[in-house]
Amino acid sequence: QERTFIAVKPDGVQRGLIGEIIKRFEQKGFKPCGMKFMQASEEHMKKHYEDLADKPFYPGLCKYMSSGPLCAMCWEGTGVVKTARKMMGETKPADSAPGSIRGDYCIEIGRNIIHGSDAVETANKEIALWFKPEELFSWTQGNHSWIFE
Ligand code: GTP
Ligand code: MG
Repeated sequence: QERTFIAVKPDGVQRGLIGEIIKRFEQKGFKPCGMKFMQASEEHMKKHYEDLADKPFYPGLCKYMSSGPLCAMCWEGTGVVKTARKMMGETKPADSAPGSIRGDYCIEIGRNIIHGSDAVETANKEIALWFKPEELFSWTQGNHSWIFE
């Protein structure tokens, strides 16, 4: 089954949006397979965002992401990587449609409250970076046959 890495960023945690974000993924029908409340080190964030290392906002981004606790999550379901990105909205909250997470809850690109993997390959890399195998769970949702045909 396809999995993606989602994080409620430190600003989302400070603003009390963990529950709201979990609720949206749960109600959609996706299945949580890992979740932890933690504070990432700046080193860890540098690794997570290594593809953006040459961007001018990279140092500030890694500082912001390590400035307080975040909620790291792994979610599973058919097409979850792409659908999660749609549910999140655009990188720039101003371009995000109302109804999307960023469209509803934030204003600035540098405080956009949620992270989601941008492709299946990236998701697998990110899940391995954030979770130990024993922190991830494969389980059967009781309502599976009511969500998937
Ligand atoms: P993530 O899910 O966090 O990876 O966002 P994304 O995939 O929508 O965007 P991208 O990977 O290109 O950028 C990662 C994060 O860097 C964004 O979510 C923003 O928080 C931040 N970021 C991107 N572009 C800018 C920018 O121009 N200025 C600032 N301050 N931050 C930026
Ligand atoms: Mg990204």
